[in-house]
Amino acid sequence: MTDDEVHEGLADVTVTETRLSDIDGEAGQLWIAGYPVAELAANATYPETVFLLLYDRLPDAAELESFEDRLCSYRTLPEPCHDAVVAAAQRGAGPMAALRMGAATATAVEPNDPEADALRLIARLPTITATYWRVLSGEEPIEPRLDLGHAANYLYMLTGEEPTDAQVAGLETYLTAVVDHGLNASTFTARTIVSTESELVSAITGAIGALRGDLHGGAPDLVLQMLEDLEATDDVRAELETRLDRGERLMGFGHRVYDARDPRATVLEDATATFYEGENDFFAMAKDVEAQARDLLAERKPEWDLETNVEFYTAVLLHGVGIPSELFTPTFAISRVAGWSAHCLEQLEDNRLIRPRSTFVGEHGQEWVPVEER
Ligand code: ACO
Repeated sequence: MTDDEVHEGLADVTVTETRLSDIDGEAGQLWIAGYPVAELAANATYPETVFLLLYDRLPDAAELESFEDRLCSYRTLPEPCHDAVVAAAQRGAGPMAALRMGAATATAVEPNDPEADALRLIARLPTITATYWRVLSGEEPIEPRLDLGHAANYLYMLTGEEPTDAQVAGLETYLTAVVDHGLNASTFTARTIVSTESELVSAITGAIGALRGDLHGGAPDLVLQMLEDLEATDDVRAELETRLDRGERLMGFGHRVYDARDPRATVLEDATATFYEGENDFFAMAKDVEAQARDLLAERKPEWDLETNVEFYTAVLLHGVGIPSELFTPTFAISRVAGWSAHCLEQLEDNRLIRPRSTFVGEHGQEWVPVEER
């Protein structure tokens, strides 16, 4: 049977089953592998969450240790990947373009093995991002430290300084909170690519491309830009109104699947409060902007529930932790690569090529005209 109805943007279309994450958009709830996101973010380390997604259960202490060791063993970039990332930075490529080039070459000299490739990519995206950033900033890349955890090592490779416990905790919460989120555009892209029986690395490279857009993962640096602009104005509401009058969207608000506040916004707001021990001018200003923007959007667009999405407090938290805003979206990918990989492995468990249809709206019966007669 063929369904000829066009579902613009595939909204409300279900194309697969998954055990990885579940969203209740009306209630504003998210479960990752069955755990409420707030519980996971409060308790799990990022590698623990990765293990949970890839193997569908929590590891015991010995399993976690050997899993972390395995991830550590993959941190250093193979030469072709290192060279590609350095060349991208030297030629001034953007951060997501460099990440895409690095990811595409990250497993080039190793035999194709979806599970091992998943771990290699999870381990190497932080090294790719940090290598790119150091070279772009005119500094020497820093080798990964194998005695540091996943989040701590990423921060260390960016600056060469050992991060504080508060920085590591803030980043770890972020990485855990955004690790998976249903069949969003980049995850769908990854599943579609791997459904052709292409390699996992191709799926992850494609997913990075999908994540980069402003309507998906490309917004947190724009949130920070908006907050920094608003910090300089006396009348926040008037400035927000001007933006809406110009037809602009307020970054960090609205979501395709949530009618309520994105639960990750709450997790990240709490993590930001913990990071700043509750007090910080920028955080207080962001909370004020959030309240005013939500009121304004409710007045201007009463037919839509435009609530705070994950990107809003991502910007505030990552800024506090010390991640440069140019690296906000790559840092999103550094987390989400585990969700993409788990979805690819799940797709391969019982694969069927993903191949939807389109409704043809052109004209049939065209008559061929030779080029010299056109
Ligand atoms: N500010 C102002 N108006 C908005 C916003 C916003 N942030 N978001 C949606 N709207 C309005 C639209 O203009 C539209 O109104 P109209 O029908 O009167 O023209 C209506 O709400 C519906 O918008 P759509 O684009 O159809 O909603 P969709 O579900 O496709 O988009 C999206 C969701 C892309 C996130 C959108 O809300 C948006 O652009 N937000 C700002 C960018 C952003 O924060 N991106 C990060 C998303 S989170 C993530 O993916 C990780």
